[in-house]
This record gives sequence, structure tokens and C-alpha cells, in this order.
Amino acid sequence: MCSPANRCPRETESRWITTHERHRDERSDAAIQVDCFASLAMTDNSRYSTPMLSETHARARGLANLPPVTSDSLLALIAMANADPRIDKIDVGVGVFRDGAGNTPILKVVKEAERRLLETQSTKAYLGSAGDKRFAELIGPILLGSHADDERIGGLQTPGGCGALRLGFELIATANREARVLVGTPTWPNHPPIIRAVGLEQFDYPYYERGQAAIRFDEMLETFRSARPGDVALLHGCCHNPTGADLSEEQWREVTRVVSEAGLIPFIDIAYQGFGRGLEEDAAGVRMMVEACDEVIIAQSCDKNFSVYRDRVGSLWVKTGSRETTATAIAHVCQRAREMWSMPPDHGAAAVRIILDDPELSANWLVELAAMRDRINSVRARLAAADPRLAFIGRQFGMFSMLPLSKEQVLKLRESHGIYMADSGRFNVVGMSDEAVDRFTTAIVDAMDG
Ligand SMILES: Cc1ncc(COP(=O)(O)O)c(C=O)c1O
Repeated sequence: MCSPANRCPRETESRWITTHERHRDERSDAAIQVDCFASLAMTDNSRYSTPMLSETHARARGLANLPPVTSDSLLALIAMANADPRIDKIDVGVGVFRDGAGNTPILKVVKEAERRLLETQSTKAYLGSAGDKRFAELIGPILLGSHADDERIGGLQTPGGCGALRLGFELIATANREARVLVGTPTWPNHPPIIRAVGLEQFDYPYYERGQAAIRFDEMLETFRSARPGDVALLHGCCHNPTGADLSEEQWREVTRVVSEAGLIPFIDIAYQGFGRGLEEDAAGVRMMVEACDEVIIAQSCDKNFSVYRDRVGSLWVKTGSRETTATAIAHVCQRAREMWSMPPDHGAAAVRIILDDPELSANWLVELAAMRDRINSVRARLAAADPRLAFIGRQFGMFSMLPLSKEQVLKLRESHGIYMADSGRFNVVGMSDEAVDRFTTAIVDAMDG
């Protein structure tokens, strides 16, 4: 029988049981038993008789009662843009880099790495929950600089930045369910659902004032100072999504000091390294935090800077006060990964590993990365020059900015001009081709003029 005292013999095979074990206090033993029976009945029917099977069937019938899901607003926007038959439509809601011709091509270095991978890969045997270890070894110095050798820091491959975020918050929840996650407003819309999914409480801090195009720096620090030690401060490493408003180096220094003095755990999400000021420059905040704080979590993504979005390439990094504690933390993270996806997909990380392991391919990657960054910055400059009210776009970084438009104005742009952006006014500066930039700015300026 499965109960808190007598754990299910198959529990390592059942995500539900291990998850519920962590929330045991909130659920009755009976509920835990039902999950356990369902799992056992599915895995070995012959050993168990009718009551367990009928429990399973009862649950299956319950699927008809599933509530509808509120669709992800950004995904819904992309679907709407795709369905628009106008050939001159402009989709700046999408979250991928596009070149001057409006395409998202595969990088030449990635194509070459994939060719080599195809030729040389001799097995597809399992790699384990930590994924490709050499991949993580090579990402370490890019992200952490000289701190990559610090034995108190451990890292592992994850399915993209999302997988790293999920595992990082799982780790926090495993260590301290009372920790609150301090989240800047606005933030990337997928942060709150991931935090909710692990059962942690979210606590907002002011980050950006759209009307002023300014970071609410003092209010942000004030919230950090009044937080509880052990709370988690979620920060965007660079190229803030959705605002494009990045902390200056001086501001990072100040935030680092306040976070460290308040006893908070910085959790840095860095999904666009190299798209802002430069590969090294974009990691400055991460490195300051790692220098100053005993405990740091970093969710890193290669999906944008290697343009391998659908291949799901990322990594999670954990710093604790000692090498031993970090080893324990990484073991917990691997356990959580095992429960959810077992191990990350290999292909994209293997291609990135091949690039970073080869000096010539690495150099070529830096050239292609610089070309993506240059396009982002040149479109920003064009938009900023179009009207003084858009000048702020030229002072920001990465793919996103927020236009000072009302929801009604955003809707009108969609209907009248086929320009698709989020209701908040967030848009992807490189979502449009070079040819569409002037048309876009004219429409935006008209909308602002009312
Ligand atoms: C701020 C931020 N964090 C994390 C991610 C996740 O990236 P990935 O596609 O690697 O999961 C994104 C992707 O859009 C993002 O914008």
C-alpha cells in the first residue's frame, strides 16, 4: 500500500507520486493512494484486482470535466498573425530574431556542426539527467567568466531556458517552500506560470514605468530591502523581456549590494546573452552576483544566441556556500529532471558543443552573433530616429521594447495595418524586415498622434 509511511514501490516511475510526496501535508492519504494505484494498475495490471482498475477508470471519465484552458496570449497572437491573409502584414509579436529579409535562418556554424554530428555520432544511448556534460563545461566560461572554475558552482544541460527556470524554482521549492519569488513588473509572461507550477508564492516589485520609459530603480531596491531573507529575487540578466530596459553596470553593482545585504537569493534569467551590449558585457550582472553572493541560481538559454529555438538548448547553474552543498543541490535538480523529462534532448546541445569545442567554428559563431546584434541595434536606431517619442528605443537592448500605446491603439494597428504586437505594446524590433521598418514607424507615429 502506498502511504506516507509506506511509500509506493513504484514511486520512482511515477511523477505524480513524487510530486505529491512533496505536498503530502496538503493532501489526504486516500488521494495519494488513488494516484499510486493508478500508476501501479498502468504498469502491472496482473498483480492488482478490480478496485484499483475502477479507480483508474473513474479518473479517466473525469477528463470530460476538464475546464477550458486560457490560451497563452503571445501564442494566440502568433496564430492570429499567421491567419491574416494580408501579404504586407507585420508580425512583431513573435519572439524570434529575424534578419533583414524577415527570415529566421539556421546559422552557418550550426549547419556545419550538425553535418559533423551526423557524420561522427556513433550512438544514441542515454546521456543521463544532466545531459551533455561537455556542453555545460563549454558554456560555463561564456556565462561565468573567471568564476567558471569556482567549485561551489555546478551546472547542467536543460531543455532550453524554460527547463532551467523550472528546475531552478523546483530547487528553491525543495529547499524552502516558504520562499517568495520577487518578480519585476512587467516581466516575461511565462515567469508567473512556472513559479505557480512549483507552488511558490510570487511577490511583485516595480521594475519599469512604460510612460516614462524608465526603470523604477529606487522602488525596486526598496522592495528588495523589505523582503525576507531567503526570498528569491528574479532578475533578467540582459535584454529585458518585455521592456528592453537593462540595468546599467552601476545599477547592477547597487542591486548586487542590496540583494546580498538583504540575504536574498538572486535568480538570474539570461536568455539573450550577446544580443545586447556584447557577449561579455551582457554577463556582467551575472558575474557580479556570483562574486558577491553565496547562493545564486542562473537559468541560461542558447536558443536565441545560437538560433536553435526548437531544439531546446539551455543550462541551469547553481552556486552555494560549499562544493558539497552544490553537489547535493545538483543531485536534487537531476531528481526533479528525472521526474519531469528524464533527460534533456541531445541534438541542439551537441551542435552547440561541437561549435564551442572548435576554435574556428567558435570564431565564426561570434561573427554571426555580432551580425544578429548589429541588426537589432540598427533597427533600434532607425526607430529611435523616426520620432522624439521613440528615442528611448535607441537606448534599450535586445529584441523587445514597449510602445506607449493603449490597448485600443494596438487593436487598431492590427485591424487597419496588419501590425501584430502584444496588447501591452510589447514588440519585437527585429520581427519586421528592413523593408517594413518605415511603414511600421509611420503607422506607429500616426497611432500616437491619435
Ligand atoms: C526572458 C526569457 N527567459 C527565458 C526564455 C526561455 O527561452 P527558451 O526558449 O530557451 O526556453 C525566454 C524565451 O522567450 C525569455 O524571453
